Amino acid sequence: MSTLSGVLLVVHMIGWAIVLGATVTNLRPPRIVKGVTHGALTALVAGILLVGVAEMGDRDVDNVKIAVKLVVALAVTALAIYGARREEKATAALVGSVAGLTVLNIAVAVLWR
Ligand code: HEM
Repeated sequence: MSTLSGVLLVVHMIGWAIVLGATVTNLRPPRIVKGVTHGALTALVAGILLVGVAEMGDRDVDNVKIAVKLVVALAVTALAIYGARREEKATAALVGSVAGLTVLNIAVAVLWR
């Protein structure tokens, strides 16, 4: 793995760690803190760049796996932005969904080989 890929992977994982940590700690009372949207957007951009760097190099990316992760990550990001914009919409179900979908994508990332 090149240094650039390594750095992007670190940023990617820190971003999702922020999303998961900040949602799990804010389930009760439910709210989406600013860090969740910032973390999600940063991690999303880092993930897309990771794919680009891998494709430019000699590494093959599993496009089906990436497509699944992208759909789930877009849902996470959209829910987070929605919940952050309208405080009354940040229900426990919404905050829990953001955390749950993030865990789902961690499982996809690690277990899909
Ligand atoms: C909630 C969303 C996401 C989570 C929780 C997540 C989590 C992770 C984790 C834990 C890894 C390290 C796993 C390993 O290397 O074995 C990883 C790697 C990676 N992620 Fe994500 N990810 C998400 C979304 C995305 C998206 C949207 C993209 C790209 C469009 C992406 C692209 C990648 C790439 C290219 C790697 C490098 C390893 C590989 O080829 O599988 N990820 N991700």
